[in-house]
Amino acid sequence: MQNIRVHGSIFFLLKKFVTKELSAYSWDILNEQAGTSSLSFSITENYPIETMNLLLENASEMTGLSKHLLMEQFGSYLVNDLFALYKDYIRPEWRTFEIILHTESVMHGAVRKLNSTANPPILNVFQVNEKLLIIDYFSKRKMASLAIGIIRGISEYYGEADKIKITPMTNSDDERVQIRLAFL
Ligand code: HEM
Repeated sequence: MQNIRVHGSIFFLLKKFVTKELSAYSWDILNEQAGTSSLSFSITENYPIETMNLLLENASEMTGLSKHLLMEQFGSYLVNDLFALYKDYIRPEWRTFEIILHTESVMHGAVRKLNSTANPPILNVFQVNEKLLIIDYFSKRKMASLAIGIIRGISEYYGEADKIKITPMTNSDDERVQIRLAFL
């Protein structure tokens, strides 16, 4: 079996999301159900994808939201914190379009360089024209729904949510997913 892991910062932010959107004790229940009650997630470590999936599946059951929708909402939620953590890499003149265009080389690049325990997904972004980006997501963690949520969260951050349309062109459960991002 492959050892696929997720960075502790994502667990840390999931805890923040669950605690805010559900309740403080929901996080304890989810961890208990996932058999992780004795674990505290450190932002300098990484943890098995199976643990992340169990937490997300249990949270989906608890909320009645599909796992996809839950991951999308979590993705949108974590943008503020990601931006705060990596603000030095984000140019003030950038908006949704530029952020997406530069995530792979600038933000995810910085994460890989600064953080030996983190290994963000590969995002190959193609600019088709000034109103259309194609994002080629590749990750063994199969978290493309999170990517969709992050894109939406970025557009909300810049007040551009009603100006974009995000369409997964292939199955969002796959390792490789193509996402179409149109600017209206
Ligand atoms: C300020 C911008 C961003 C920062 C600082 C950032 C940082 C990170 C970090 C630290 C991780 C954890 C990696 C690991 O588990 O080893 C991560 C994962 C992830 N990032 Fe980003 N990210 C940013 C923007 C984006 C954008 C724009 C997208 C999507 C278009 C995206 C998609 C993802 C996804 C889906 C994951 C989950 C892990 C996976 O699918 O393999 N990120 N990111």
